[in-house]
Amino acid sequence: MQRCNLTRLDVGFLEAVNMTAYDTLDNLKSAALSRVWAAGTSGELDAIETEYLGRKGELTQMLRSIGALPPDQRKDFGQALNLAKNQLAEAIARRRDELGDREISAALKNEAVDVTMPGRFFQIGGSHVLVDTLKKIKDIFIGLGYEIFESPEVELYDYNFAALNYPEEHPAQDEHMSFYITDDILLRTHTTAFQHRVMKNRKPPMRACTLGKCYRVDAVDATHGHTFHQVDCFAVGRGITMADLKGTLHTFASAMFGKNVDVRFRPDFFPFVEPGAEVAVTCTICDGRGCNVCKGSGWLELAGAGMIHPNVLEGAGIDSEEYTGFAFGFGVERMPMLMYGINDLRLFMDSDLRFLRQF
Ligand code: PHE
Repeated sequence: MQRCNLTRLDVGFLEAVNMTAYDTLDNLKSAALSRVWAAGTSGELDAIETEYLGRKGELTQMLRSIGALPPDQRKDFGQALNLAKNQLAEAIARRRDELGDREISAALKNEAVDVTMPGRFFQIGGSHVLVDTLKKIKDIFIGLGYEIFESPEVELYDYNFAALNYPEEHPAQDEHMSFYITDDILLRTHTTAFQHRVMKNRKPPMRACTLGKCYRVDAVDATHGHTFHQVDCFAVGRGITMADLKGTLHTFASAMFGKNVDVRFRPDFFPFVEPGAEVAVTCTICDGRGCNVCKGSGWLELAGAGMIHPNVLEGAGIDSEEYTGFAFGFGVERMPMLMYGINDLRLFMDSDLRFLRQF
């Protein structure tokens, strides 16, 4: 039977087609109920509610048109209408609960975090092995009373060579082939270049240390690089002797390698020290017995060192009759190479995580 709106109904016509207002109400109610149970979302349900029970809803309109019925039928029909309204309202409320529950569980399901899923790979960075080594070296010299200085990598020729007693064109410069920026400015070839920067601005006594990158023109292979790190230290004061230098290097090497090592001095030449020495410590791999790292000698060459040349002190305005000093400098890469058995210098600069993660 067709759904029809009682407001538009002619009761007489209904009777004529044998369709009473009750039938219309019944039809309307069952159509409404089946739509309620079929509603899939609470939004749909809201629309159905308005359609039937809203201010202009079909059931509401029917209530208003009761007046069109013969007076003796109004009460019964009114009751039937109210009953239908309540049943529909109740059904809507029940369906709303059901849909609400369903929607909440669907939302929970969609937004759920699967705690059993494998986590995303998260890389934790770490400091580079050379940075760790520099820090360790720095800490040892701070412990020995050295002041740590920053010093420029782009340096004046004067500080890199002239102030360090290199005569012009001296063959000692040959092993310091450098990258020149102008005739007077270059990438420093050794950290010793910081000496005059400190000396000329201070009065003795002083203990100074600097660490950082140095550059030399060199063909790159497993044991040579154009960029490397050095540490340089010096001390100036009254009565400083070679014994102080020896003691300092001995203390440093023992702290660095964690063992009591011996220090060996052999004559060497550097224009800025007199006497000059090449320093070696007991091989920490074989404890001096001789192995392939120390090439059977039992010694590891560690540093260049010596007593600061009077010309260097005088050039910085320090009276070399009153004050003496020692200086030493060494390469940084060599330490982790010895400690971890690294055999290729290039690994330090390659940024290969497989190498770097090992430290
Ligand atoms: N600067 C020298 C080098 O690079 C090392 C050194 C430093 C030697 C201080 C003596 C004193 O080889």
